[in-house]
Amino acid sequence: MSEIKRKTVSQLLKEAPGSEVLAKGWVRTKRGNKHVAFIALNDGSSVNNIQVVCDTQNFSEELLKDITTGACIAVKGNLVESLGKGQSVEIQATEIEIYGKADPEQYPLQKKGHSMEFLREIAHLRPRTNTFGCVLRIRHAMAFAIHNYFNSKGFCYLHTPLITASDCEGAGAMFQVTTMDLNNIPKNEEGGVDFTQDFFGRQTSLTVSGQLEGELGAMALGSIYTFGPTFRAENSNTPRHLAEFWMVEPEVAFNDITDNMDLAEDFIKYLVKYALDNCMDDLKFLNDMFDKELIERLRGVIDTEFVRLTYTEGVKILEASGEKFEYPVGWGIDLQSEHERYLVEKHFKKPVILTDYPKDIKAFYMKQNEDGKTVRAMDVLFPKIGEIIGGSEREESLEKLEARIAELDMDTRNLWWYLDTRRFGTAPHSGFGLGFERLLLFVTGMANIRDVIPFPRTPKSAEF
Ligand code: 4AD
Ligand code: MG
Repeated sequence: MSEIKRKTVSQLLKEAPGSEVLAKGWVRTKRGNKHVAFIALNDGSSVNNIQVVCDTQNFSEELLKDITTGACIAVKGNLVESLGKGQSVEIQATEIEIYGKADPEQYPLQKKGHSMEFLREIAHLRPRTNTFGCVLRIRHAMAFAIHNYFNSKGFCYLHTPLITASDCEGAGAMFQVTTMDLNNIPKNEEGGVDFTQDFFGRQTSLTVSGQLEGELGAMALGSIYTFGPTFRAENSNTPRHLAEFWMVEPEVAFNDITDNMDLAEDFIKYLVKYALDNCMDDLKFLNDMFDKELIERLRGVIDTEFVRLTYTEGVKILEASGEKFEYPVGWGIDLQSEHERYLVEKHFKKPVILTDYPKDIKAFYMKQNEDGKTVRAMDVLFPKIGEIIGGSEREESLEKLEARIAELDMDTRNLWWYLDTRRFGTAPHSGFGLGFERLLLFVTGMANIRDVIPFPRTPKSAEF
């Protein structure tokens, strides 16, 4: 068969009939009768299948018997106009080779709809479903669009380390990295762990954010972004938390909080528009199968201006709402997803950027406001998701930053290099982190963050 070059299903579906073609892929379904068999073939290039028509006379009964859901085949034949509904062309098969059979007694992805929970248990096979094909193609498109966006704006993609000795967010939810023998941990004179004997000669962890190193980049290159995996060991079993997730973190010298908000809003709108312009087949499938308002919601975001208001004003609205929240609201609390979603979904009915949070619930590096109580933080809140972006203007004053670090009782020994940016040529600067999977929840309409990453890592779960 190899005398013709294989074309993808996506390519073939766009082609005019009339030529001899070669297609390869996995069988989604086979139906038919004594005379003719119809195979729906998918190779992951599109949510759409190509129909393969086999005149049963031309193939052995044995071969046809092995063409079952999940089997992998190569098909040579003529691309002809299709008389059936739903496709313009189909392949009239002349030759079929079976690469790999899939025993119908054992292959778990049979035709019937499966629950998302069941599919998580077979995450090694779920990319073969329509739903996960759509989600993973959109995930790819969004990653590509992120690089496109920043590249077109002159940002430099900075690769920040995954192994670190500092805790950016100060939440203490870090995975330790060690090569020490856990059954025989070296101790120091005080009886604590002797990390000087560990691989790096100090205590290290997986990063929770690339920001601190991102700031070093911005203070030299002007505009940078990071895009990579980050890790949080918080024991949050929610539909919006992963222990390993991807974060996009732009950091820009000379940007103040307003510039930062403008960038965040423009960036998200670009990504959503990119999905609408480039992933319509996949979005239509997800819209029809899961969430009838998905496409409308995506269009809505591009066309609306995000609301911008302070945390203090937001809390006032929540207090006046008369709504019964599971966690009571009051100035100073860390807003819960139910509060964020009230503001976005019920009160304003559009995305909201909340700013100027109490300093005690935010990280040490945020620029302190004159009131002594709040910092120039910004969270972007989205319908169905809650927080999708967290960011801030950074404290550029060495004095104020050192005072805050002392107040929080943090160890400056690990941060001397960070403080050097404030010591030498400091400048106003701002940045934010977009949770890539939170973005994908919004764009795909999926309800659980475990279903927008190929192999989710969550508490008590690291299979595959
Ligand atoms: O708000 P966070 O913690 O901010 C930072 O880490 C800053 N250093 C970012 C910066 O300013 N450069 O996290 C940023 C975003 C959140 O808004 C959320 O979208 C996502 O990361 N996120 C998570 N996504 C999935 N699972 C988790 N456990 C997440 N924690 C945060
Ligand atoms: Mg946050």
